[in-house]
Amino acid sequence: PTKIVIDCDPGIDDALAIALAHGSPALEIVGITTVGGNVSLERTTDNALRLREFLGFPEVPVTPGAAGAMMRSAIEAAHVHGTGGLGGAILPAPTLPVAPGHAADYIIETLRAAPGEITLVAIGPLTNIALAVLKEPRVVEWAREFAILGGTYTRGNRTPAAEFNIAADPEAAAIVFQAGWTVTQIGLDVSTTAQATGPIVERMREIGRLGTDLLIPCATFYGMVTADDGPAIHDACALAYLADPSLIVFEPAWVEVETAGRFTSGMTVIDFNLGGRVPNARVGTSIDVGRFWELALAAYERVNKG
Ligand code: BDR
Ligand code: CA
Repeated sequence: PTKIVIDCDPGIDDALAIALAHGSPALEIVGITTVGGNVSLERTTDNALRLREFLGFPEVPVTPGAAGAMMRSAIEAAHVHGTGGLGGAILPAPTLPVAPGHAADYIIETLRAAPGEITLVAIGPLTNIALAVLKEPRVVEWAREFAILGGTYTRGNRTPAAEFNIAADPEAAAIVFQAGWTVTQIGLDVSTTAQATGPIVERMREIGRLGTDLLIPCATFYGMVTADDGPAIHDACALAYLADPSLIVFEPAWVEVETAGRFTSGMTVIDFNLGGRVPNARVGTSIDVGRFWELALAAYERVNKG
């Protein structure tokens, strides 16, 4: 399986993404790092600890990182994810502690120890990744792949121009896109099409305790579910892609992050016309939604059977 380190801010869709990763035979979670984002760092970390024990991978370290953006005050999305961050899901309190040290150092040391072997996937603001890259630029060479859920070339969700994970720390995102690797970018253009519609929620209901205690209270908290419409489970798209890269179509592009715009701060300015430039990203343009849900639901079944 592909070894992955997940940098996250759980977060409803982060929770569903982590569950998908744990249940995917193609993926092995070697570490989780947390960042302040959807809710405070304290809460995202506590949620990661709860998820680790509830989902059943107690041996995997959870290492907290940055509480907020590098150069601006922290923003949150508790109105989207609930004050606790996991919507209506109430998971048992964790019994195991966080790992010592900072997420950025964990990322550096873990990738240093296995160059070319570990994929780094970020599904929250990019602060920890930027800190790691600034402190040890060779992280870029050591990562097998670096993938994010973030950005958009159509419409934003935090602002008309900006997606939340980029808007939360645009300076960090700019550093990450300029770091010298080819970022696998999966943005809202892709993730908003992967919706938990009524029939999907029904299938989640058939998945025993994982369905009733986590998937449904998360997915349905997020927004209205109808027969052919429902909340997008953004972060799960990035993990599903790592489990099966054929799910998403990509185009090479040059991506800049706007850090100064009055209306456009946090916008990913995505140029598909490379004009001879070497791309700094592969940008997702579509996902096979049917196969995405088959993969996700099979992974959730596997977690439930434990
Ligand atoms: C992203 O923002 C967060 O609220 C979600 O967890 C996801 O990572 C979607 O824009
Ligand atoms: Ca997230």
